[in-house]
Amino acid sequence: MNTVVLVSGRGSNLKAIFDAIDQRSCAAKIVGVVSDRSNAAALDLATSRGVPTRVVPLRKGDDRNLWNEVLASEVSKLEPELIVLAGFMRVLGPPLLEGFPGRIINVHPALLPAFPGHSGARDALDGGVRITGCTVHVVDSGVDTGPIIAQAAVPVLADDTADTLQARIQVQEHRLLPRVIHEIATGSIQLDPLRVGTPAGDEDRSLVVPEL
Ligand code: GRF
Repeated sequence: MNTVVLVSGRGSNLKAIFDAIDQRSCAAKIVGVVSDRSNAAALDLATSRGVPTRVVPLRKGDDRNLWNEVLASEVSKLEPELIVLAGFMRVLGPPLLEGFPGRIINVHPALLPAFPGHSGARDALDGGVRITGCTVHVVDSGVDTGPIIAQAAVPVLADDTADTLQARIQVQEHRLLPRVIHEIATGSIQLDPLRVGTPAGDEDRSLVVPEL
């Protein structure tokens, strides 16, 4: 399954996808990595793997509609079957959403619909919850609002800081995201319309998927 990954940051989730592909536990092929930031470390990771990269920067004062069109055009040229937002810190506009309906997924560091936005771990800590986690969901025009595909739970510890909690959430992200991509690639998860089921005999309850 030809997959384009959109990134803004260090790319630990991108690395987890590459590692899962290497281990043959993720039946995806990353055909391109696209970023809004030229200094995203994730771009270096992609380059080191021989994967083409594109940068579509969005600076203060830039025309956001134009940026959305250029972004959609660059992604489309890579002919993805699936688009994965892995730490991509922008809200997508109509050109990509309408060009790839139901084919874009995102990973978020909280149990949505709780704590959407930029600081999921910090907000969970401030909210006093005892369990948080991560969510993989279909992307729509809102901020972390699309249909939920899968979640993994992470306990909040008494001495957690936002950084320690975020680090433990990321351990789960690195398991969950490649697994969801694999299940989309193999047809266990159908995205459009969304159909999610727990694979028969799956005893791993840290992957929480709703039964239909
Ligand atoms: C992850 O926590 C993801 O949930 C959020 O941004 C972070 C990206 O981390 N959307 P990385 O760049 O994959 O390390």
